[in-house]
Amino acid sequence: MKTMYNGAKAIPSTGLRGVITAPGDKSISHRAIIFGALAQGETQVTGLLRGDDIMSTIDAMRALGAKITENDDQSWTITGRGKDGLISPTDPIDCGNAGTGVRLIMGAASAYELDTEFTGDASLRSRPMGRVLDPLRKMGIEADSQTGDKLPARIKSSGNLKPLDYTSPHASAQVKSAVLLAGLKSEGTTTVRESRLSRDHTENMLRAFGATVNARPKDDGQIVSITGPVNLTGTRVNVPGDPSSAAFAIVAALITPGSDICIENVMMNPTRTGLFETLAEMGGDIRADNFRKSGGEVIADLHVRHSMLRGVTVPPQRAPAMIDEYPILAVAAAFARGTTIMDGIEELRVKESDRISATVELLRRNGVDITESAGGMRVRGGTDIVGGAEVKTYHDHRIAMSALILGLAAQNPVTIDDASMIATSFPSFFELMETIGAKIERPAA
Ligand code: S3P
Repeated sequence: MKTMYNGAKAIPSTGLRGVITAPGDKSISHRAIIFGALAQGETQVTGLLRGDDIMSTIDAMRALGAKITENDDQSWTITGRGKDGLISPTDPIDCGNAGTGVRLIMGAASAYELDTEFTGDASLRSRPMGRVLDPLRKMGIEADSQTGDKLPARIKSSGNLKPLDYTSPHASAQVKSAVLLAGLKSEGTTTVRESRLSRDHTENMLRAFGATVNARPKDDGQIVSITGPVNLTGTRVNVPGDPSSAAFAIVAALITPGSDICIENVMMNPTRTGLFETLAEMGGDIRADNFRKSGGEVIADLHVRHSMLRGVTVPPQRAPAMIDEYPILAVAAAFARGTTIMDGIEELRVKESDRISATVELLRRNGVDITESAGGMRVRGGTDIVGGAEVKTYHDHRIAMSALILGLAAQNPVTIDDASMIATSFPSFFELMETIGAKIERPAA
């Protein structure tokens, strides 16, 4: 039998140039679909990310009773369940690779009278769900998992949950969002206390759908609460460009000699821009202009030029604002003079893969001096990176894209074993990189 080659190969390139538009933000796309499905009336979404993760969330919310259609102009219309509430599907809900999708939907579904099984692909089934199921149990759901709080998990809710005052042990927007969504139909105030501020898209979007959300800063974190029952009302959502996807083109331009690119439509929400701040501290030539507001978020165009980078110590309290960007930061650090220290990032071990060990393996195989600790990485950079290795991606889109970006500036091509999962978050990655002149070979479509 002939096996399909699913990998890809990045060939050393020079002079990346051109203008590209960042694809829709994944976090905001998930929330637009979920909140639209809960709301009364219609929600119109433009700029939605057409990634596999978002398609899984669309399927899940359809199974829970919402009507979701794509229009000819590529906008989406959601007719929400409103006062009729979500319904129990007959089959298990399969959220694919999407951690954000499943955790937010388990929270939202718990607010209604439901009995539903949730599952996902092999990567999602290996990730911890107790962080969401534990607070939901405190609110009154029953959750059964045969595999110690991993998926598949069956959730039974009476739809009459107790409000909760929850101190989250994780700086996690997914946990915060699941608890707030579960509290939407409870009588009383549900509060989440987080010691570090995680991305605030749920708070912002709940307000856009007509809810009152109280958020007050506390030390490095915040106390956020909603008082139920809350009825959401359908609205328009214009999804801004994803800074976590823009990150790959930005680092590609910084490390590839002769580059000068522009990435338009990048969301500049401060809970997401930790990488940009870090790259600027490293001496990266990144200039933002054309600041404007779209869909309640500030967006800008970023101009990036090849730069001589230097190593920095990333403050651990910045981690939530760049939690998905450490693999690509480690690639930038490989091309920086001196040492880059990244600590306080143990959360990376429970992402789509163990991102600390996958990043260390990717860089080490390509000749980079990198060490690993329980909660961090340390990269001693230089300008001559040998490259030439085949990288194991562990079915993780951000590891796959980071490896290909490294290959553009290394001395020898870098290949990856599997490129298929890049479509979970950034289906236009190859096309956009090609537009700016990056030489990346990929399997024929
Ligand atoms: C996300 C939150 C982050 C991030 C993920 C998207 C979200 O996870 O890693 O890609 O949309 O809420 P945690 O909040 O669990 O850190």
